[in-house]
Amino acid sequence: MSQLTIYQVQNPSQALQQEQDANIIASLLAEQGVRFEQWQANTDITAEMSQDDIINAYQSDIERIKTQGGYQTVDVISLAKGNPSASELRQKFLFEHTHSEDEVRFFVKGQGLFCLHLNDKVYQVLCQQGDLISVPENTPHWFDMGSDPEFTAIRLFNNQEGWVAKSTDSEIAKQFPLLD
Ligand SMILES: [Fe+2]
Repeated sequence: MSQLTIYQVQNPSQALQQEQDANIIASLLAEQGVRFEQWQANTDITAEMSQDDIINAYQSDIERIKTQGGYQTVDVISLAKGNPSASELRQKFLFEHTHSEDEVRFFVKGQGLFCLHLNDKVYQVLCQQGDLISVPENTPHWFDMGSDPEFTAIRLFNNQEGWVAKSTDSEIAKQFPLLD
């Protein structure tokens, strides 16, 4: 189940608030300028589908978001369980960083934990199948895909160069709970 957990930066061991209702999650995140939505596919999603098939299954929501956010390109990434590079891939986003463009992800399958550092709070958003999150550009955040990641996600970009993770040189990510 999708979940939002909010912490004070100074108190990583005790959550202030935890919500599992998608409408409440969306509204608490919207207050922070973060978009959270749940999408329905227009067809059954199967393991045999190509990237184009997957994009077509969510075409109307993708077009709406592209228009609203000015996104230019769309792709699909997949990670299967048992990936020998899983630990290396996990570490790539497990430190606080920013991007010069929005990080927009829709989970077709699987899950991931987005951790957003918003002023004196940390918002941890567990995104699962059917969830879209858009982390605004320059928002300090980290992402945990877990120790044995499995997900398929649609990504939207303004420009793919903007997607490079720029470290904030903070150790904050080590203080908060991870996916597992
Ligand atoms: Fe990121």
